[in-house]
This record gives sequence, C-alpha cells and structure tokens, in this order.
Amino acid sequence: MPQLSIVVPTFNELGNVTELRDRIAAALPGVDWELIYVDDDSPDGTAEQLVALAQQDRRVRCMLRIGRRGLASACIEGLLAASSPLVAVIDADLQHDETQLPRMVELLRDPELDVVVGSRYVDSGSIGDWSRSRALISRLATSLARSVLKADLRDPMSGFFMMKREAVLRCVRAGTSGVGFKILLDLFASSPTPLRFREIPYTFRERHSGASKLDSNVAWEYLLMLLDRLCGRVVPIRFIAFSLVGAFGLVVHMAVLALLLQGFGLGFVVAQSAATLVAMTSNFALNNLLTYRDMRLRGMGLLRGWFSFVAACSIGGLANVGIATWLFQREGGWVVPAIAGVLVGAVWNYALTALYTWKRPSARKAAPPATRPVAAPPSLS
Ligand code: GDD
Ligand code: MN
Repeated sequence: MPQLSIVVPTFNELGNVTELRDRIAAALPGVDWELIYVDDDSPDGTAEQLVALAQQDRRVRCMLRIGRRGLASACIEGLLAASSPLVAVIDADLQHDETQLPRMVELLRDPELDVVVGSRYVDSGSIGDWSRSRALISRLATSLARSVLKADLRDPMSGFFMMKREAVLRCVRAGTSGVGFKILLDLFASSPTPLRFREIPYTFRERHSGASKLDSNVAWEYLLMLLDRLCGRVVPIRFIAFSLVGAFGLVVHMAVLALLLQGFGLGFVVAQSAATLVAMTSNFALNNLLTYRDMRLRGMGLLRGWFSFVAACSIGGLANVGIATWLFQREGGWVVPAIAGVLVGAVWNYALTALYTWKRPSARKAAPPATRPVAAPPSLS
C-alpha cells in the first residue's frame, strides 16, 4: 500500500511526464509512492504517453477527464482518487523541486501538522528568473490572497505541497470552489478549522519542455475565485461573472449612446436602440469568452447563441422596466424600483441564457468523434 500519492495535473505536457516520473523515483528511494496524473484530454497526446507509462510502471496512473478543463478541479479529483495517508500536488513541467518531497514526508510525521507548502517566499526560496512584471503581478496576487485568508501563508499561490489525506477530505467536504488555478488557496480558504502548516523554501525552476497555460484568463479566474470565496455560498459563481459582464455592458451602452447622440447627432430612440444592441452583443461575446469559457460557442453555434441571447435579454429588459415602473408608481422613489428592476432583469437573463444559449450538450454522443488516433496499447505477449 503506497504511503504517498502524488497528484500531477497535466495539459499538453508530453515532453515532461516521463522525466518527472524518473526524477520522482530518484528523489524518493525510501518511500512507497504512486503517481496520479490527471489529464484533461491534452491534444498533444499526453494521455497516450501516460497510458504507455502506466503499462510499464505500476506506480503510475492516468486519470483522463474528457470535455473539461481546469487546474484546481483536476487536482481535487486526483486528490480524491488517492488512497495513501499522504498526498502531494506537483506541476508536471519540473518547475517545482521534487527533491523537497522526502523532507515534506518527514515533516508530516508530526501529528500537529496538516500540510507542508513548498514556498518561493521563505528563507532561501526564490522565484528564479522571472521578469520584473511577472514577479510584480505574482506579489500583488499574493497579497490579495493573504487578505482573504486567515492563515499567514507567505506563498498561498504555490501549486507545490504535501498534505494529510484526511485534511484534504475535510476541506473538500466543507466546499472547495475548484475554480481556476489556485488549488492551495482554495483548500486553505475552505478548511473548516485553520490548517496547521509549515512552509519550506524551494527555487522555482525554468519549465522543462512545452509552454505555460497561464494566460489572460487566469487573472479573470483568480478574481472569480476570490469573489466565490467571499460570496459563493450565497450566489453561484457564474452569476457573479455574468453580473460583472453585465456591469461592463452598462459602460459600453453609455459610451455608445453618448457617441451616437453627441458625435453623430442621432435621435434618442434610435441611439438608445443601437446602444442596446451593441451592449447586448458585447455582453454576449464577453460571456462566451469568460463566463462560459468552458462551454464556449463556436462557428454557427455563435450565431444561434447570439439570437437566443438577444431574445432572452430583450424579454429581461421588458421585465426590468415593467417591475421598476410598477414599483415606481407605488413607492414614488426611483432608486429602489431601479435596483429591483435591474436585479429581476439580471436574474432573468442569467437563467434564460443558461438554459437556451449555453445549454450543456444534451448528449455527449452528439460530439464529433475524436480525430486524434488513440495509441494502441502495447502488446501483452
Ligand atoms: N488537468 C489540467 N487541466 N492541468 C492543467 C490545466 C488544466 O486545465 N492547466 C494547467 N495544467 C497543469 C499544467 O500542465 C502544469 O502541469 C500545471 O498545471 C501548472 O501549469 P503551468 O502552465 O505550468 O502554470 P505556471 O507554471 O504558470 O504556474 C504554476 O506555478 C505557480 C507558482 O507556483 C502553477 O502551479 C500555479 O498553481 C502556481 O501558483
Ligand atoms: Mn509551470
């Protein structure tokens, strides 16, 4: 029975997964370990490579997730599939220092400790050769995280840590959000009792092979995760995202309206209608890019989606004006009726577009067959 399960999220890490297994084997000679890779159906064929690796090495497993994406949720699923008393998370690209794993195992013998975190910001730890802008952004995101957390973690954004399995279960049961990149932060923020931790330094290395998945979406997902921590128990995360996009739509609306009225001298009704359509279209595009990034519409689906979005939001707009007018006539003041109207409209738009615009594919079988050939399993003879 393994003593330690190491979870490795992968997306397009073909050139790294075997090297990581080799280095872990070299780093942990005295420990009975298993390696659980969680791959989101990488187009570069990482999963096929992992299956081949698992065929020759019993300590390796590949969990394949199809039709889903996300670093944090992949880690959580890998952690839940682990059956060792100790579990760890490490990146596939060899940026984390696997030679620290034995020390983590050693430290976790202490019954008073739940988690050991590999930290870039304690003692001799370092971020390696990062550009000044990336270092600054990382520092900024770190201090934001520290303000949401009750724990005094120096590196809450670390993706490299080891933890007792029971502690992981307690966090997940209490409700991890699973959104975005920050798995450690997610675990700390959801733990029912403060996690007892220790940070040990390591130096963040250069990526071994392949490219980073950190893109502009990461900042957005990070913002969503922080908001989710603050109010996610009451309001669904997608609704928060949808509302943020809606608020930005108001800015677009006013800008277009001002331009058409003052720049082009159009009449109010025409300008207001045009601004509404532009704002709806930009809201549709942004929601498709951000709120529903995991089920993004493409090609003809985009056109059909736009029609249903505009139709749903037009009815939502009518409901908004209807409720607000009704309240206004009864109450007199304008602030409460206006807010009530906007809220009813937003909930309506959210509910309807979730049903009709970005509906979950009704049957996976309708999805086109994989074009990538699946590698034949090695012959058993
Ligand atoms: N399954 C899955 N699904 N894995 C993913 C996904 C995904 O959608 N996105 C990224 N990964 C995997 C990558 O394959 C890699 O093994 C690991 O998650 C980290 O992704 P990178 O693209 O290498 O991220 P990074 O180097 O910019 O950021 C890392 O370092 C930071 C500093 O420690 C991450 O570990 C961050 O969580 C960490 O904060
Ligand atoms: Mn990396």
